[in-house]
Order: sequence, then structure tokens, then C-alpha cells
Amino acid sequence: MDKKWWQKEVIYQIYPKSFKDTNGDGIGDLNGIREKLPYLHDLGITMIWICPMFPTPMADNGYDIADYRGVEPLFGTMADIDALIAEAKALDIKIILDLVVNHSSDEHPWFKEAIANPTSKYRDYYIFKKPVDGQPPNNWRSIFGGSVWEIAEGEQLGEYYFHTFHKKQPDLNWENPAVRQEVADLVNFWFERGVEGFRIDAIVFIKKDFSLTFAPDGPDGLADVNLGGANMPGMIEFLAELKERTFAAYDKVSIAEAAGVPYEKLDEYIGRERGVFDMMFDFKTTEFDLQTEGIWTSYYDWDVKDYKAMMYNSQVEVGKHGWATTFISNHDQPRAASKYLRANARNPYAVKALATTYFFVKGTPFVYQGQELGMVNFKWDDIYKYDDISTIDQYERALLLEVDEDNAIELVNRRSRDNTRTPMPWDDSENAGFTTGTPWLPLTETYDEINVKAQEGVGDSVFSYYKEMIALRQHSDYSDTLIYGDFEPLPSSDDVFVYKRVAESNTIIVIANWSEEIQVETIPELGDIADIAAGKVVLSNYAEAEGALAVAGNQVTLRPFEAAVIAL
Ligand code: GLC
Ligand code: CA
Repeated sequence: MDKKWWQKEVIYQIYPKSFKDTNGDGIGDLNGIREKLPYLHDLGITMIWICPMFPTPMADNGYDIADYRGVEPLFGTMADIDALIAEAKALDIKIILDLVVNHSSDEHPWFKEAIANPTSKYRDYYIFKKPVDGQPPNNWRSIFGGSVWEIAEGEQLGEYYFHTFHKKQPDLNWENPAVRQEVADLVNFWFERGVEGFRIDAIVFIKKDFSLTFAPDGPDGLADVNLGGANMPGMIEFLAELKERTFAAYDKVSIAEAAGVPYEKLDEYIGRERGVFDMMFDFKTTEFDLQTEGIWTSYYDWDVKDYKAMMYNSQVEVGKHGWATTFISNHDQPRAASKYLRANARNPYAVKALATTYFFVKGTPFVYQGQELGMVNFKWDDIYKYDDISTIDQYERALLLEVDEDNAIELVNRRSRDNTRTPMPWDDSENAGFTTGTPWLPLTETYDEINVKAQEGVGDSVFSYYKEMIALRQHSDYSDTLIYGDFEPLPSSDDVFVYKRVAESNTIIVIANWSEEIQVETIPELGDIADIAAGKVVLSNYAEAEGALAVAGNQVTLRPFEAAVIAL
């Protein structure tokens, strides 16, 4: 196998607004990330993905960029990011940024110029269309609700502009070669500054087919923008050009946020030969809990085996074409320990079993800030506590569907993007050591128990377990297998995961019991081991004092939520 440098990374995702505040304004900043580099180094991660930290009016917390070559003053200065890159590098930690180029902010000078001076070249940097019979040009619904069409303040030609997301996020016009060149230039600007790659935001939306029309699919009379505005033919060509001008030229990593890609098309996206990205997130494994697409109004009482089937399938399908990412959380998802673990599984053993399951499949692992502590969702009872525009939209759509207010709050509590955006709990003091001021978003109320101080250096903490997992993948006799080895699912009981990773050097078996029951698994591969206790169990989520994994011949008896990694 042709090995690539980015396959061996372990990536830690930081939401800068919520990580660590150093000047008391209640908002995390770049110097906060600098201050916590030793913490991240101790955890063992090798690369940091920083969510957007560019100048922004914060309509979508930075995913609305007003200057692609600067730093948001709330987060710091150019000197701060330079220092962060340099200090991280000294600890062997690489930095990647978030590339948000499907759209800019409506406060970007390009957009302002497009409105103020409609004959300027910047008009064609965006998508403008005339009204049809006095109405918006079509009936597509933006991702955050309402029409994708809006008339800007000060608009002189009476035209609508297009926005896939919020109205403060006008889509850039990728059909315009000048826009594509601007994007390539700004990417290389950051490469020249020492950034090692980008996570690429919402990239499947850059091509639209306005000849398509759709019947309304909800009480708002609108139709999902994904139908005509995502993964459209021609998109790949734009991205191949970008790759050649930037990522390939500099040997930097590209990680795409690419939802809705059918597996049979993966080759164009991440194929070893012709893929336009190095890796992408497969979101097919993330919506297993939702009954209705796109809206959070009804949830499945899902079974472990259903999620397991999706996750294995993703590994196998993605593995056929290229390289995967493995992740269970991010800034758009609820907390993993709340989403993946059912009510009977809210304990540290289960949190570690979940971690074991996702971390050792094949792919570059991502850890979202606080995941390494086993952080859980909040319980908020008032929509006014929320900041996220998408949560507020989901709440309003639920009310439109005649869900009552209490129920609507409960529904958004489960899925709100704010769940992962609450401040990072560093200790149990007031405001969790995140800020000396007032945090911009309330803390998750469990912070007095789940925080860094309570877990760092504590042998059986979730944090210590993440540290062990990372060390095993990165720096052990099994690293080669755990990073590059093939993935193969093995038969198991419904609530148990058993899979192997196979390389020339050795074979690894990963086992995780997601139930509170004792489970007995027969694993033929174990037959060859004479004495399993003799150093073959290389990781376990039960403490030594609790006794070793019970293996007899090729049979393993798993205790509740027991997980282990066995080297053959
Ligand atoms: C991506 C981001 C999300 C953002 C959206 C618009 O999905 O992950 O946070 O709201 O794009 O940029
Ligand atoms: Ca601050």
C-alpha cells in the first residue's frame, strides 16, 4: 500500500470560540489554544483542526467569513496565529484550518462591492437572479430554513442572491474562473504560512443546476436545496482544478465535508488515483438516530446492530476506494456519549467501549474537544439559551408541524449543535476555568464532574483511556497494523462489535460490548493463542484490579460494556 503522511495523524478538532479564553471577554481565542498546547501534546494528538478563526460577523460562528486572509479580532491577531503554528510545530503538532468557500459572509468586501456597484467584477463573484413573476427564482429551502433567495439591503437591480445556508452566507459563484483562482490563492496563502491542510466546508454545494424544479416537501411550501444544489455534475472538475493548484502542488492534506455522496461515486471524491480529496467524512453513519431526513422531530429507538451494520458498511465501501476518516462527534453533532450510548449505558465503561469501537477502525481518527472527557449533552429548557441558528430554525419548524413547545425543546436538546459548542470544562471552578468573564454560551451543567482537572493523571479516567488508545495507535509494536492494516468485520452478537485489523506484521482483534449484559463471543481467530493473559490483551477498559479479559480457547466472555484490543 502506498502510504501517505496524513494517514497516521490523530486529529483534534477545536471550536475556537469555546476552547479557552485568555482575556476575560468570555470568548475563546488563539492564545487559549497556545496555552493548551501542552495539554494536547500530552494527550498525544498530532494535528489540530481549528474551526474558522477568520474575521466574521459570527452569524454562523465563523462559517461566514469576511476576510479569508485575516484573523477575527475576537480570536486574536495574525501574530497570534503565526505563533500558534510555530509553537505547535515545536511540539510536532500540525495545524489545519477550515476552508469555507461555498459561501462568504455578506459582509465580505466582495459582496459589499457586488451590491454597492453592480457593474463591478464582484457582481459575478456571487449568484444573482431576477425575480420570476415577482417571486423568488425558485422554491428551494436553505439548510437553515426559509428560501435560498434574498434581496440584499441596498440592492439596485432588484435581483435576488442565492444562499445555500443562512442569508448572511451568500454562495460564491464557482462558475466564474476568477472566483476559483481567488480560492486557490487564499489556500496557498495559508500553506505559505505553515498550515498543513484544510478541512473543507460544505463543498458539495459549489455547483447548482437551476434547470431542475421540485414539488414542495413541507408546510413552508419549499423543497430541499440538496436536490438541485448538492453533488451536481461538474462539481468534481472544479475540485480537480483546485487540487492541482493547491493541495497537490504543496503536498498538503484535504479533508472534505461531503454529505450525500453515494458509495458508487466515492472514487471521484477520494479514489486513490483520481480522487479530488485525500479523505472525507462519511455522514451516512451519523443519522442513524433520526427518522425524518433534515428535521429533528422524530427519533428511532435504534438498535446497536443497525448502527454496527452502517459503520461496517461504511468501512468496507470507503476502503474499496480510498482512505476514511473515523469520527463520532463534531461541532454540528450532539455529544457522542449522549448520542451513541443508550440510556442504560451512561457510564465510563461504555464511553470507553464506544471510543475503542470507533478509534481502531481504519482511517484517520478525529477527536472533538471534550470528547476525550466523555462530555455529554446539556439539558436546557428555554429556546432563548440557544445560540445556534440551525437549532432555532429546527425549533420553529417543529412548532409549524404542531409539536408543542416543551416537546420541541426536548427534541432540539437531543440534537442541537450547541451541545458541542458549550465551553470546554477545564476544572470545576465557576465557569469551568474557561474564562474569568461571562462565557458566551452557558456551560454544560455536568462540568463540575466532567472536566479536565478531574481526569488528567487519573489512571482510570476517560481522558487517560484516550491517551492510551492514541499511544497504542501511534507508538507501539502494533502501530503499523492499527494505522494501515485492512479492516475486516467478524460475526458477533447484536450488541457486540468484533472486528480485526490485518497487516503483515500482525493481526489485531478489537472487541466491544455495548450492552449491560454479559456476552459470550466465539472468535475462531483466537484459537491459536496459547495463553491470552501473557501480554496479548494490549488494551482493556477494565482496570487490572478488576481482573483480566476472560478467554478460554476461542471463547471470550465479556463483562458489561467491556472492550479490549488483542494482538495475535
Ligand atoms: C458546515 C459546517 C457548519 C456550518 C455550515 C455552513 O456544515 O460544519 O457548522 O454551519 O457548513 O458553513
Ligand atoms: Ca477571549
